[in-house]
Amino acid sequence: MPEHVSYATLLDAVRARRPRIAFIFGSGLGNLDERMRPLGSVPFLDVPGLCGTTVPGHKGSLRLGEWAGVPVLVFSGRLHYYEGHPWRRVTQPVHLAGDLGIDTLVVTNAAGGIREDLVPGTLMVLTAHLECTTPEWWRELSSRNKPNPYDASLRARLQAAGQRLDIVLAEGVYAQVTGPSYETRAEIRALRHCGADAVGMSTAQEVRVAHDLGMRCAAISCITNRAAGLSHGPIHHGEVLGIAAQLRERLARLLEAFLASGAV
Ligand code: HPA
Repeated sequence: MPEHVSYATLLDAVRARRPRIAFIFGSGLGNLDERMRPLGSVPFLDVPGLCGTTVPGHKGSLRLGEWAGVPVLVFSGRLHYYEGHPWRRVTQPVHLAGDLGIDTLVVTNAAGGIREDLVPGTLMVLTAHLECTTPEWWRELSSRNKPNPYDASLRARLQAAGQRLDIVLAEGVYAQVTGPSYETRAEIRALRHCGADAVGMSTAQEVRVAHDLGMRCAAISCITNRAAGLSHGPIHHGEVLGIAAQLRERLARLLEAFLASGAV
């Protein structure tokens, strides 16, 4: 099949191959699937319900491929709330994945490190998240009956793949904020106080929706910078993309080993 196809052709291929795992690749990480054998790719703009991305470093295409012998669906690039999209549109890729029969979702993002050891160039597997995305999010911190959407066995498989490849994976709690601007020093102090180890502008909403739809979920943060106020000078998106590019190869090898281990 040629790499660029119509959405209808992609759907036929998805029905034939039946991928069960999907990836959403974020900032500067859209090419993580370079080693995947492509079976078809459609720009987000051609997918009903999705629209093109506007953020540099986010390509915006839906791809089907075979990676480490496993059929996979890849959302290369993502939509963000700070681009002006409502949450329902931001999470539309997850709903679409559910409609296409996906039962395992792995999400990547770029994040600022809050905890001391989370320096640029670190990979962090999420153990939990805080959704700091509504004006009253802090009221919900005390609610105890929210399930943790991160699957412990997927996390263990990621760690095992990392050990085989000598790739160290930190673990921690990720806070999703809305952006568009990076945080203030005071906001980072508040997030640290609430239990956040890293901060970014995606992932928690996607993972919560996926979990609600019955998917097993895992997520990995590429720590691209120290969070605001924890290093000298302001944070630049270019710097975030530069470190993400350096981490891409390591993360791609990790995901390939994870797939090869029969995680799905
Ligand atoms: N804050 C929010 N989002 C981010 C950061 C950050 O420091 N780094 C990468 N994405």
